[in-house]
Amino acid sequence: MDVNRSILFAASEVYPFVKTGGLADVACYLPMALHDLGFDIRIVLPAYRCVLDQVKKTRNATGFQVPETRDRTKLLQTTLPGSDIIVYLVDAPDLYDRPGDPYQGPDRMDWPDNAGRFAFFGQMIRQISLNKAGLNWAPDVLHCNDWHTGLAPALLAQDAGRPAILFAIHTLSYQGLFPRQTFTSLDLPSGLWTPEAMEFYGNMSFIKGGLVYADKLVTVSPRYAKEITTPEFGYGLEGLLQHRSDRLTGILNGVDYRFWDPRHDPLIERHYWLDNLGAKKINKKSLQQELGLRENGKVILLACIGRLIDQKGIDLMLAGLTGLLQNENIQLAVLGTGNAGYEQSLRTAAGNFAGQMAVRIEYNESLAHRMIAGADILLMPSRFEPCGLTQLYSLRYGTVPVVCATGGLADTVVDATDTSMQNHTATGFQFVNASRDHLLAAVNRAVTLFTASKDRWRSLMRSGMKQDFCWARSAEQYRIAYMDASDVRTAGNHADFALKKGKNGGKNQ
Ligand code: ADP
Ligand code: GLC
Repeated sequence: MDVNRSILFAASEVYPFVKTGGLADVACYLPMALHDLGFDIRIVLPAYRCVLDQVKKTRNATGFQVPETRDRTKLLQTTLPGSDIIVYLVDAPDLYDRPGDPYQGPDRMDWPDNAGRFAFFGQMIRQISLNKAGLNWAPDVLHCNDWHTGLAPALLAQDAGRPAILFAIHTLSYQGLFPRQTFTSLDLPSGLWTPEAMEFYGNMSFIKGGLVYADKLVTVSPRYAKEITTPEFGYGLEGLLQHRSDRLTGILNGVDYRFWDPRHDPLIERHYWLDNLGAKKINKKSLQQELGLRENGKVILLACIGRLIDQKGIDLMLAGLTGLLQNENIQLAVLGTGNAGYEQSLRTAAGNFAGQMAVRIEYNESLAHRMIAGADILLMPSRFEPCGLTQLYSLRYGTVPVVCATGGLADTVVDATDTSMQNHTATGFQFVNASRDHLLAAVNRAVTLFTASKDRWRSLMRSGMKQDFCWARSAEQYRIAYMDASDVRTAGNHADFALKKGKNGGKNQ
């Protein structure tokens, strides 16, 4: 039996309660897989309005009162749909009960009080971790995710009875940076304001709280674990990550095949598998109908799904559009929301290529399933991609990924070369440089194979469909990571020392 039996999993988004990207998927399916391994894993999430709307029947688990100001705060308890995993919702209406998403208002501007919102979340994570939330429960390991939870490890560093702490980096590109005045106004221990702690070139960096003070660092692919120790991907944090590289591991995300599998996905038109690949065409036809694309089984349908932001290389795709769609045998479908400029350019392009290109600017979970089932190719030209889930989903659906060879995309897609095609290890197409020309060249390679040989294309599809990225495998690696975190905790994390050296470091005790 593991000594680390109880885990508190802290995240700012959890599917199906609230989702803006892959973190939400991870925060749902990874706890489920860990639960299956026998862990007593519980999740903590802010009680945003959209979450409250879904859990009307939530019972009030505890009237835990946060010291001093926040007397209206409660901790609500519910369960993760489809499981009996306990979810604690931090119910502080003035901070979280608002329209919009976890980070932005309906005007798509970051909430001006995000520092306070997530500082408070961090404080609540600390209280639960120390069994000071009236729950009569404390974790052996605290598993934090991304900057929104970064304050908790920093605060806990001073607490003798703290759990071991694992901090998971889903992306380094969002760090929770705020000016010094914000740090001051949050009334945090002044010892945290040093470059060895949470100060980052004159700003307060929430993510540094996790990177400096966690006992174990995990990121979501082995390649990204290496990349973030370099200036190109490290955002200035590469030195710190190099320093802590003995504590840093890459663990690939997974797929919950109960929900993402063309054999039984209830959201798609027709089920299919290796032995009846022809049925995939029915999904393609119905997708073409749904999106107003010309119905033609012979054209190659490309799909691109995701947040429309720089990271995802949307500009590369836009730059390559004319080159791509000159070929009338190519169709393109895009689903996503994000940068208003990209949204507009995509809409305009779809207007210019009516019948050949379709764009849906919305968040639509079931359309994402139908696109992944109906398309021939999934395009992911990301400049960087810590792991990426969409390519993992599309592999299972025989939708061949064309990806930039970065992070988790490089780790999960095997480029189609003569050798890899011959030995049936190829699963997609990679391009090495995030540029329009390299993207077009990779798409061309795919189109050439698709057009030249149905058999070879189907062989490529089948190799992808047989890949197994189940969450159980990742969960097993997290189990080991929890043990590492515990060992480091027992041996004494050097960061405890770093904080104690800071002036007035004991304020929060
Ligand atoms: P990231 O977390 O960087 O956004 P991932 O590939 O890890 O990228 O995860 C994205 C997740 O969000 C996938 O589950 C994908 O299907 C989903 N997704 C992104 N945008 C949309 C959208 N507009 N509609 C439906 N699902 C979306
Ligand atoms: C981030 C990354 C993405 C990863 C996801 C879940 O949003 O951009 O690559 O798959 O987190 O870990």
